[in-house]
Amino acid sequence: EANEKESLYLVSEFAKSYFHDTLLHTEEGKAIGLTYFKERGFTNETIAKFGLGYSPETWDAFTTEALAKGYQLEFLEKTGLTIVKDDKKFDRFKGRVMFPIQSLSGRVLGFGGRILTNDKKAAKYLNSPESDIYHKSKVLYGIFHAKQAIAKQNNCYLVEGYTDVIQLHQAGIENVVASSGTALTPDQIRLINRLTKNITVLFDGDAAGLRASIRGIDLILEEGMNVKVCTFPDGDDPDSFARKNSFEDLVLYLESNAKDFIQFKASLLMNEAQNDPIKKADLIRDMVVSISKIPDRIKREIYIQETARIMDISEQVLLNTLAQLVQKDI
Ligand code: CTP
Ligand code: MN
Ligand code: MN
Ligand code: MN
Ligand code: MN
Repeated sequence: EANEKESLYLVSEFAKSYFHDTLLHTEEGKAIGLTYFKERGFTNETIAKFGLGYSPETWDAFTTEALAKGYQLEFLEKTGLTIVKDDKKFDRFKGRVMFPIQSLSGRVLGFGGRILTNDKKAAKYLNSPESDIYHKSKVLYGIFHAKQAIAKQNNCYLVEGYTDVIQLHQAGIENVVASSGTALTPDQIRLINRLTKNITVLFDGDAAGLRASIRGIDLILEEGMNVKVCTFPDGDDPDSFARKNSFEDLVLYLESNAKDFIQFKASLLMNEAQNDPIKKADLIRDMVVSISKIPDRIKREIYIQETARIMDISEQVLLNTLAQLVQKDI
């Protein structure tokens, strides 16, 4: 079992160098992949740091090279790099730009691969399947490059996508990781918790991003961590926003727009409820559910006071609702 895992790590590491070399040193890689990354504003240094790559259009180019180098088909298949169908071997990621996904200690666990066309029929990103070395729910994209900065800044920015991590990093904000497609999980939050108690959620300025940040908040609170939320203008994500703004403006934006979860959620909910008392009652309950996730009793009470003030409702009503939710400890 230990040997088998090692074999999966080795073939993944080989794939990372193969895709990276293909990007930098082949005509196809340079013309297609490198041009793409340059158009997104990534520097050579950034491309090297994140080990970005390119998987050729030819349907079995990578697999053929890996087999020729002595890597076994079994491990190529188990990492999902090669798909075997009717005795034919296909490269999973053919014709995509490649984002290696690394563990906390820097080992390559899997890949995300992005298409270059805007072909709506194909998935924009393809990701490695689960394997004995790649457990999506336990991995955060960028953690290897972010861990020192997270500890030093005592804060972690949480974004949605690969390019958000990379673009912010290049802009000088290095304490950033992504959940990358999967909904945020408790294991991912615990990984951050080892480095800091503070998370600032930076999700995309669209409806999906908003829903994802709201779902994520309760999970972060349950781990006893502090959570702030910063949203972006509609249509922007941290990547596009960082590209449009100077470092100073970016930092200023993050600092002035990061709201404590209570303010974020309360104002969001109040906006939704407007003058509808029934809806308002539902949303107040929703708010108290979030607060009930906080393990620390004193913190809970502070948040109750704050919610009462923001939502213009008596503390006692909130406390009663909370008591129903947190029976054991109030
Ligand atoms: N994602 C995925 N599969 C998809 C779409 C998205 O796995 N078909 C994941 C990727 O990790 C992606 C993240 O969800 O980075 C966020 O999705 P989205 O905001 O749509 O993509 P961006 O990261 O903004 O990608 P880009 O800027 O390249 O369009
Ligand atoms: Mn395992
Ligand atoms: Mn999005
Ligand atoms: Mn996005
Ligand atoms: Mn984007």
